[in-house]
Amino acid sequence: MTIKEKIDELRAELHRHNHNYYVLNAPEISDKEFDDMMRELQDLEKEHPEYQDETSPTMRVGSDINKNFVQVAHQYPMLSLGNTYSEAEVTDFYERAKKLLNEDFEICCELKYDGTSISLTYENGKLIRAVTRGDGEKGDDVTDNVKTIRTIPLVLHGNYPSSFEIRGEILMPWVVFEQLNREKEAREEPLFANPRNAASGTLKLQNSAIVASRKLDAYLYYLLGEELPCDGHYENLQVAAGWGFKISDHMKKARTLEEVFQYIRYWDTERKNLPVATDGIVLKVNSLRQQRNLGYTAKSPRWAIAYKFQAERALTRLNKVSYQVGRTGAITPVANLDPVQLSGTIVKRASLHNADIIEGLDLHIGDMVYVEKGGEIIPKITGVDTDARGMMIGEKVRFITRCPECGSKLIRYEGEAAHYCPNETACPPQIKGKIEHFISRRAMNIDGLGPETVDLFYRLNLIHDTADLYKLYPDDIKNLDRMGQKSAENIIRSINASREVPFERVLFALGIRFVGETVAKKIAKSFNNIEELKNADIDTLTGIDEIGEKIAQSIVSYFATPANRDLVERLQAAGLQFAKTEEDRSGYTDKLAGKSIVISGVFAHHSRDEYKDIIEKNGGKNVGSISSKTSFILAGDNMGPAKLEKAKKLNIDIVSEDEFLKMLNAD
Ligand code: IVH
Repeated sequence: MTIKEKIDELRAELHRHNHNYYVLNAPEISDKEFDDMMRELQDLEKEHPEYQDETSPTMRVGSDINKNFVQVAHQYPMLSLGNTYSEAEVTDFYERAKKLLNEDFEICCELKYDGTSISLTYENGKLIRAVTRGDGEKGDDVTDNVKTIRTIPLVLHGNYPSSFEIRGEILMPWVVFEQLNREKEAREEPLFANPRNAASGTLKLQNSAIVASRKLDAYLYYLLGEELPCDGHYENLQVAAGWGFKISDHMKKARTLEEVFQYIRYWDTERKNLPVATDGIVLKVNSLRQQRNLGYTAKSPRWAIAYKFQAERALTRLNKVSYQVGRTGAITPVANLDPVQLSGTIVKRASLHNADIIEGLDLHIGDMVYVEKGGEIIPKITGVDTDARGMMIGEKVRFITRCPECGSKLIRYEGEAAHYCPNETACPPQIKGKIEHFISRRAMNIDGLGPETVDLFYRLNLIHDTADLYKLYPDDIKNLDRMGQKSAENIIRSINASREVPFERVLFALGIRFVGETVAKKIAKSFNNIEELKNADIDTLTGIDEIGEKIAQSIVSYFATPANRDLVERLQAAGLQFAKTEEDRSGYTDKLAGKSIVISGVFAHHSRDEYKDIIEKNGGKNVGSISSKTSFILAGDNMGPAKLEKAKKLNIDIVSEDEFLKMLNAD
């Protein structure tokens, strides 16, 4: 057997076992045998890059190559469905179809999966493209990420049309979602509100290796193309199951309206036992010929409708509203309720989000309120039963004006719903929150310290901010409650070790508003040290890829605050890494130092993002718009006429792609 034949054989076998395991739930070989085969194929492919194939089973492991998504136009627009919550409207839909068709018809009843929709294009039995819904006309090409989803076949078997599209829903199963949120909680990261957000968030990740680890699933529910096997929608999907697609087992054809309602009532309760989230039922006229007859309105097909399940809700009494202060000073109002049973758990507290929501509900203490879960983790108040108020009406809930922890007057930033306590440097929960963030695993990773110890140290006046941590000695803490010599030494050792944590994580640890891990990485790449960052203006900051006005503003105002500058200086004195290492800097030149460069047009040798990177690596700044400060314009083909005009007016040099590359290569 030649190497190529061996590779082909391994690929075919792995595709088959993948389908057996993930789609049919009927594995024939052990996980170990599967892994061994996969490794063998990976090794062969590495040795023989000439046999590379975009649909090889090895593509499922993903890669960490950073890629921005390219927008692709949909061949057929991705429409949405008309929604209804009422049985009467289902009847209307049915009767209208009956009247318009004037012949017998069947309705295909399906579950409405609550994930994120995807369009898959197959040519000659191979997955060639996966695109998100986007605005319905065009979406993001997320092919590399979708390839990591094991229930989506990369190659098909059987008698499939040479070219077709299939659409469906990408989902994060409940168990995966809950596990992911537990991990996020442990890392003190914001949680996903529901599996839908988790699925769409995951699909948009830049790193497909992380997507691969998230165990997404997919159900396909809509086949499109010029040469489909049957006239029935239901029948087409059954045939597509034979090509390797995962099609729901819970589709059912109904011949009467009564059968439609039986399906709806059955799944209204039964859906709670499904491994994935559903939020309703989709009803589709089954015959494609009849679908064409009924046609479309501007927004949705006349041959289909979605019946949405009522979110589960309960009625209970509002006893009090309390207010929590977060690490950034954001105030969260919380409703304290009479305990009530709601989809399997007892609810005592619910989020009220912000002042506008409270005002909109016209809440009064003692009101009977509706609580809903609807897929969110934290239940929310969705309404008030005003009829239950009777003669006695409690005091109107008014949003507090002062911080419940430190008494400072609250402020509200323009365009934001939340109120904030501005006393960043002296409000206890903000101070403690900042220290907790600073020590967390993804920031300075200081072991042995948790929220309780931070609280204890703070109460005992041992620490007032993050810099104080570096002044602690084992003797200061060894006699504290539940501590002892050994834990004390461990904590101090861990604090000392954090002096080696690299610049990008130190930046993240500072807890500057809107500067999360990714932003911190981008900043660390663009500045050699904290001094450069301190002196950066809004223009320079917004010139960095993915840094917008809001983040830039937040960074500038952080360093404009004397208390923050002072804190950073003390952390510097404590020996933290506030500069890039030599290693980080290698591969960088200063050939473009001090230059502000605008990129415009289409390029032949590198993508726009690559040019941004090249400019930054060579000490230049990429800025978004032309001004008198612009050094030159790196212009590809088809530079916009408005830009050209402005450049001429301001007498700014236009440098072609080739000239630019020459400029960098000259010694
Ligand atoms: S059919 C033109 N079937 O619901 C009809 N959609 O508002 C195309 N969805 O964007 C959609 N389960 O994301 C269809 N069994 C199902 C579905 C389903 C969930 C989602 C889909 C679509 C939205 C429609």
